[in-house]
Amino acid sequence: MTISQAARSNVSSQNSVEDRLEIQNLLQANLIVSPTAGGDVIKGLTQTAKSLPARYFYDDRGSKLFEQICELPEYYLTRSETAILQNYAGEIAETTGACELVELGSGSSTKTRILLDAYNQLGYPLRYVPIDVSAGMLESSARQLLADYPSLQVHALAGTYELALSQLQASQLPTRLICFIGSTLGNLNSQECDVFFSQITDALQKCEYFLLGVDLQKPKHLLSAAYNDSQGVTAAFNLNILEHLNWRFDGDFDTTQFEHWAFYNETAHQIEMHLRSLREQTVELRALNLTVNFGKSETILTEISRKFDLNTIQQQLKAKGLVTQKVWTDTNEWFGLLLCQIQA
Ligand code: AVJ
Repeated sequence: MTISQAARSNVSSQNSVEDRLEIQNLLQANLIVSPTAGGDVIKGLTQTAKSLPARYFYDDRGSKLFEQICELPEYYLTRSETAILQNYAGEIAETTGACELVELGSGSSTKTRILLDAYNQLGYPLRYVPIDVSAGMLESSARQLLADYPSLQVHALAGTYELALSQLQASQLPTRLICFIGSTLGNLNSQECDVFFSQITDALQKCEYFLLGVDLQKPKHLLSAAYNDSQGVTAAFNLNILEHLNWRFDGDFDTTQFEHWAFYNETAHQIEMHLRSLREQTVELRALNLTVNFGKSETILTEISRKFDLNTIQQQLKAKGLVTQKVWTDTNEWFGLLLCQIQA
């Protein structure tokens, strides 16, 4: 081997994807009952007002349907947030300086890349800590990022947000930014939101940062259209939750006997998405030993998607010690991005 070959192979082994990737499975390590074990499904379907946890949308097909939703002309959320990030990622990176990027619910990493690019351009080291319940998703998206960013280090945590946040080690870089973008916060009711903000506060050391993306209140017709698209992708996404339950729990939901129903509740400032039973019917989930009766027109609440007011959310964050440093919106002011710092 010549010296230059040796040098090259040395460099490439230092930079190999394997060397830069660590995946930690918190669910196994903590012997916690898998969040997909079904107790939450039994609870939701045996209540008088039936409901299902929104995270059951995201099996393989559901995740693909959600990506299709993000492309729909009516679904302005993803485009609006991406535009904000494209405009202000540089400012975010300048404000925080070199930092470890922790992302809750990593999903497809298009928006993460905008942030990584901004830190990269300022010459900062890149360290990314994605947190997701799906270990498979985590690994495949981490590998793609590692292939595209040769200096990136990834420490992926497979587990619930709560568990991962409670177990974060101190940042290896001067500061840390916890990102919760995509308006996933909207799926939490106000009490769950309160608990969640406390978990964020507890996970941050003084002067560390929190980046939050939220969908904003706007005229009803715009919101209603975003969840009732003309191509029926949202309807397919909603109905797919039943297919997912059939597969996971050996069930016999007939998706032709339910219909998509979504509306904006103006008093509660939230989209409420349901599945409505088209007739009286009985469904079995054999793996859960569960039989569920539906009356004609009875509904299952599958998701709430809250729409926020920028002043109110800043007050709620402030009450938890999270002080908003910067707020950005898109030109329509449909979506908001807040950069907060924890009180020293
Ligand atoms: C991923 C929770 C932000 O609430 O808009 C899209 C999910 N549901 N269409 C949202 C969703 C129906 C989405 N979030």
